[in-house]
Amino acid sequence: ALLVRHRMRSSARWVRAMAIVADLDERCGTPLAKLRQVADAMTVEMHAGLASEGGSKLKMLISYVDNLPTGNEKGLFYALDLGGTNFRVLRVQLGGKDGGIVNQEFAEVSIPQDLMVGSSDTLFDYIAAELAKFVAQEGEDFQLPPGRQRELGFTFSFPVMQTSIDSGTLIKWTKGFNIEDVVGQDVVAELTRALERQGLDMRVSALVNDTVGTLAGGRYNNKDVVAAVILGTGTNAAYVERAHAIPKWHGLLPKSGEMVINMEWGNFRSSHLPLTEYDHSLDAESLNPGEQIFEKLISGMYLGEIVRKVLCRIAEEASLFGDTVPPKLKVPFILRTPHTSAMHHDTSPDLKVVADKLRDILEITNTSLKERKLVVQLCNIVATRGARLAAAGILGILKKLGRETLKNGEDQKTVIALDGGLYEHYTEYRKCLESTLTELIGEKVSESIVIEHSNDGSGIGAAFLAASHSQYPDVEES
Ligand code: GLC
Repeated sequence: ALLVRHRMRSSARWVRAMAIVADLDERCGTPLAKLRQVADAMTVEMHAGLASEGGSKLKMLISYVDNLPTGNEKGLFYALDLGGTNFRVLRVQLGGKDGGIVNQEFAEVSIPQDLMVGSSDTLFDYIAAELAKFVAQEGEDFQLPPGRQRELGFTFSFPVMQTSIDSGTLIKWTKGFNIEDVVGQDVVAELTRALERQGLDMRVSALVNDTVGTLAGGRYNNKDVVAAVILGTGTNAAYVERAHAIPKWHGLLPKSGEMVINMEWGNFRSSHLPLTEYDHSLDAESLNPGEQIFEKLISGMYLGEIVRKVLCRIAEEASLFGDTVPPKLKVPFILRTPHTSAMHHDTSPDLKVVADKLRDILEITNTSLKERKLVVQLCNIVATRGARLAAAGILGILKKLGRETLKNGEDQKTVIALDGGLYEHYTEYRKCLESTLTELIGEKVSESIVIEHSNDGSGIGAAFLAASHSQYPDVEES
């Protein structure tokens, strides 16, 4: 009798667990009709954000990049790429017309957690010191004409209100960063002062968002690139807009007639977004409540945390992993997206990877196959929702550009440059994003719209832009 009672109890638990999963699955649903609503809402907000400053949650920031790389850029340039869990420094020797990239070197440094929430000077001093080390290692493969100052493209992947190509103030922090005294400051001035403190003679000649850098790097490789999307720790997009379609731009009309817009789409929000109680609670507990809602559904910083929250709920209400909730499961952000990605991709018959991750990260041992399958299912639900919403965002941009359908008689290619760790490493996510986009635009159109991986284009792109905005007029030869 005891055994029967136990079994019943455990089957009741299981019923409850499955009910929670089914409920989540339903609430995270993204049928095509919903994705189209999201895309349309994105297009509407794009218009509103371009119309006036503060006209929309989408900031649609003017990048001051009105010319993308041509391939004629020449000389030695540096780039510094800050915005995720790592920052990168690189130098490139550009060969000018037909010369391409003659030489390139980079170094990657992880940013200590405490620097992300410390003070401006500690962050910028750390970065400047790493950059100085890197510059000191410059070898003979790189050449700076005598008497010239080194120039740097600064990729700073946060919302910045630019005042020119080489200046701009931080509007707010996103992702894991929160350093009060930088908000409202010119980040180029902050970096420049830190470079001076290091005794490093270098001029910041371009300040760009990572999406803008990726667009520039992508365009260098492929003339048909019109937009760039980052799917990494955070998410965002930039695209080439016609200057006269930007009512809030009161400056001179650029010669090219074009202007790159940094959308800051992470802050997009719409009643059509499939938000659940888990998302609301994640948002409420975040460093930036009420902000970056699209980003919190889509990007790498949050997917693992959403899965953790659901698992925690199932453990509490259905005693999934025993009578008490495993303590580690209660630790925010302990489960990272690389972990959920590894579990999601586990193809071993007994889900060994899932078992290992649950044990190593959450200290949950002796899981049953059924439980491990449930974990994979959760990873799938959360990643699928994110990837499909990202595809809807891309459709929104295509619609704004009038490129979501085939125009009669035109055979125009449209290329979107993608980058970021999530896109690069989370295969199921990437496949889902790509197949969803095809579903949305149709097989026929999808032949002329291509997603291209732009590997670390954001740093290279910034170096190109540093070249085209160099203080020395001959670096861009015609
Ligand atoms: C966040 C930042 C944005 C950046 C994106 C991807 O959304 O606000 O500027 O482009 O992350 O790194």
